[in-house]
Amino acid sequence: MLKTGIYTPDQTPSFSGRPRAFIALDLYDQFSGNPELEMLFQEQAIGRVAVANGSFKKTHLNRFDEFDEICRGIIIRHVPVQNSVSVHDMAVSDGRTSVPFFEFLSGHYGQSLSFLASDYSPGFKAVYDPADSNKRLILDHQNRLIQIVAPPFVFQVVCPESGLFYPVNRLYRHYIQKKWAQNLYQSYLRSPSLFQTKDILILCRACQNLTHDSRFSFDTYDVLSGIRGTQQIIRAMNILNISYFAPDQMAQAVSHICGALAPGGLLITGSNGDGGTDVRGGVYKKTESGMIKIHDFSGGSPAESLILQA
Ligand SMILES: C[S@@+](CC[C@H](N)C(=O)[O-])C[C@H]1O[C@@H](n2cnc3c(N)ncnc32)[C@H](O)[C@@H]1O
Repeated sequence: MLKTGIYTPDQTPSFSGRPRAFIALDLYDQFSGNPELEMLFQEQAIGRVAVANGSFKKTHLNRFDEFDEICRGIIIRHVPVQNSVSVHDMAVSDGRTSVPFFEFLSGHYGQSLSFLASDYSPGFKAVYDPADSNKRLILDHQNRLIQIVAPPFVFQVVCPESGLFYPVNRLYRHYIQKKWAQNLYQSYLRSPSLFQTKDILILCRACQNLTHDSRFSFDTYDVLSGIRGTQQIIRAMNILNISYFAPDQMAQAVSHICGALAPGGLLITGSNGDGGTDVRGGVYKKTESGMIKIHDFSGGSPAESLILQA
């Protein structure tokens, strides 16, 4: 089978059934339909993009509503209204799941709230081929190659499609990567000023609107690096997965997160699949004697043993 991609704004993806075509990431902010369809388009555009460390940008609107509902009750019971409540929602992809979380917290804590949403890789760049601007490379914030757009194809570089189902795509991807993409990539790294580029911020419109609220901020953050300050609530959804991190990295991430919690603070974490599916996770509280679990969802977080030892 052959799979072509979506590489110009006037191509409309299929909004029914499971999306097949990969979408060039520089179209993320180019959709001209209504806001609901834009959210869907953006969900499809990032859904199968893997970033350099092999994790996916995949996220969904209303991904874990039931889980959120229960967590809201736990937050109200365990984190009192006080002068200052700092919250860090990490690995948020384009931030769509942060929006209802922020809305609830700002309603409950008012002006005491300080909310940081973050992601490891929110910023990308398109680098256009001077000989044919339809052809371009998508790089991440550290100039690592993420996507190759060679119309009519769009190829993922990290975690590409299975060669079993799309053997022609696989062959052509190898060919184009060797014959064209690598040359363009190396030339860009040598002389970036010679190329036309476009910055791409993967942050949904609703989240961008929240940046006008002084209580909300968005930043780049890697869970493997240390966290500044202390937080009353840290949320890490669909990131503390054993498939994303080697055991020592997972231990490092958990140690940073738990170390950054204020006494009595909550860690809310879990993983699920598509929107509305069951979350496997938990809510953990930092006490004088260490981290304890105060609520279990389907057996607890995949990182639970590390959390309870932290
Ligand atoms: C599967 S998405 C989860 C998005 C959202 N939390 C949700 O549940 O829908 C995983 C996100 O984690 C981010 N990520 C990957 N490695 C990370 C790291 N080391 N630190 C912080 N974020 C990371 C990716 O960029 C991606 O946006």
